[in-house]
Formats: sequence, structure tokens, C-alpha cells
Amino acid sequence: MAFERNTQYFGSYVMQRPAMGHISGVPLDQNTWASIWSFQAHPEDIVVAAYPKAGTTWMQEIVDMVCEDGDVEKCRRAPTYDRHPFLEVVAPKPVPSGLQLAEQMEPPRILKTHLPIQLLPPSLWERNCKVIYVARNAKDCMVSYFHFQRMNKGLPDPGTWDEYFLTFLSGEVPWGNWFDHVIGWWEIKDKYQVLYIFYEDMIEDPKLEIRKVMSFLGKDLSDDVVEKIHQHTSFQAMKENPMANYSTIPSFVMDHSISPFMRKGIVGDWKNYFSTAQSDLFDEEYERKMKGTDLVFRSQL
Ligand code: A3P
Repeated sequence: MAFERNTQYFGSYVMQRPAMGHISGVPLDQNTWASIWSFQAHPEDIVVAAYPKAGTTWMQEIVDMVCEDGDVEKCRRAPTYDRHPFLEVVAPKPVPSGLQLAEQMEPPRILKTHLPIQLLPPSLWERNCKVIYVARNAKDCMVSYFHFQRMNKGLPDPGTWDEYFLTFLSGEVPWGNWFDHVIGWWEIKDKYQVLYIFYEDMIEDPKLEIRKVMSFLGKDLSDDVVEKIHQHTSFQAMKENPMANYSTIPSFVMDHSISPFMRKGIVGDWKNYFSTAQSDLFDEEYERKMKGTDLVFRSQL
């Protein structure tokens, strides 16, 4: 089947929302955007939000397991993208649009988004929905995103690593600038019900982070269930789980032979990609952009 790589994330699709600031790289036209903006949330809906490649799918699986009291079979009911509507995505078939999927589901729903804070549909704030935000250090995000753009034909071709490094740094990637994203969500977290979690912490002590999610969602589960959640959401288990690893998406959209969705699942892979000059350049930009925030990423220096 013919499938053309999407190259139209920029330029004509630059979003201008004067009241909300401005962002480039969100793959939506104005009509689709208007319907997403008018999305009606239910107060019990739970949102998993993250910059792309920060561990969104991992957190979705954890939240699903927590909500289903550790019932593995229930969490195998459908692929990730059918279980958790991806709010802003109008994807090629067979992936339904996130809004259609959300409308077909009974609340409470687990919703996924990569939207930066200023573009989140207002009803999620008005209904005071709980949001779990996952942040991952930019350098590993960049490497993961590079490989994801290589294998996902729904996204622009990343070019070479050296080209992509500059594209990512300029923020001209789908869903925009990493700095704006992580800082925006950090600054809003105490104003609403937002649990801000770091990928690196999830790697270091997964059970601790699972317990944080449980407590945030008001769930008191036994140690055995926590262990079950931990096992089911390990990298290896998710890599082998067709309901979590995106292998059910046709290969003309996601070509896992180029790079699997569940690629490495580690901290520090950036060291295999960044030249010393790139790392220095990135660190300078990091210093500049993070000045004035108390948000700290441990694993990128
Ligand atoms: P890598 O490409 O570095 O391996 P997202 O779901 O936001 O697209 O993030 C995908 C990244 O999270 C990929 O990173 C993927 O391997 C990693 N990931 C997914 N599930 C994981 C798990 N259970 N444990 C560790 N990393 C996981």
C-alpha cells in the first residue's frame, strides 16, 4: 500500500494562538485543532502527558495496571493506542483518531497527550483532571526521537544524526521544543493535579515510582500487586507484549526493522551518539534555557 511520509508538520501547520502563546510542530490543521480544543473531559479522566519519547507508553501501561488492580489480562484487552485515546492525533488507518476513540469510551478514560501545557484542551483543567507528566533528559529523548522519526513514516524524515541534532535543538520537531515542554509542565504542576515523574527515577527505582502513581490515583494495592505491575511493565515484558510494543501497527507506518519502538530503554544512550562538540553545545543551550527554573535533570551531564 502506498504511504507517503508526512513532511507537513511545519510551515503551514504552525499554530498561532495569540492568547496561548505560539508553537510550531504540532501536526494539526485549524479545524482539527478547534475540535481538540473543545474536547470535553470527565472529572475522573486521567491524562498521561509527556514530550515524545520520554516514556509515555511505559507510564500508560503502569497507569492501566494500577487502574485495573494489577489484572494483566485486562491490560491485554487491546493495543496501547486503542486503550488510551491519543488526544491530538489524527493518524493513518488503522489507528483511529484520538477524539473518536475517546468519544466511544465510557469515562473514566486514560488519555494520552504530547501537547505542551499551553495547548492542552481547557476542559481538562476546568474538570480538574489528574495528569501524570513524564519527563526524560533531553539528550536521551533526542536519540530516541531520532530513531523514532526514522522508523515512523508518519513523521518527517530526521536526516542524518548531525542534521537531526540541530533540528531538535531548534525545536523544529513534532510537538515543538523540549525545553518549553518540560519547563511549561513543571511550572504549572502545583497549580493543578499534576504528578511530575522522571524517566530516570522510573529506571532507578520502578516500584517507588509505581507507588507514587498509586498514591496520586488514590489506589492502595498490596505488595504482590505492585510486584505484578513491576513485572508486567518491565522493559523486557513490554518489548515482548504486542499490546504494548506497537508491533500491531502496519510496517508501512512503523517499520520496526529500521528501529524497534521498544529500542533500548536505558539512561545515557546519548553518549553513543553525541560528539564532544555536540554535547558542549547542548550543555550551553541547557544552561541558558534552564536558568531561572528549579527543574533539574540528573542524567545529562
Ligand atoms: P528508547 O528509544 O531510548 O529505547 P514514548 O513511549 O514516550 O514514545 O517513549 C519511548 C521510549 O521509552 C523508548 O526509549 C522506549 O524503549 C522506552 N520505554 C518504553 N517502555 C519502557 C520500559 N518498560 N522501561 C524502560 N523504557 C521503556
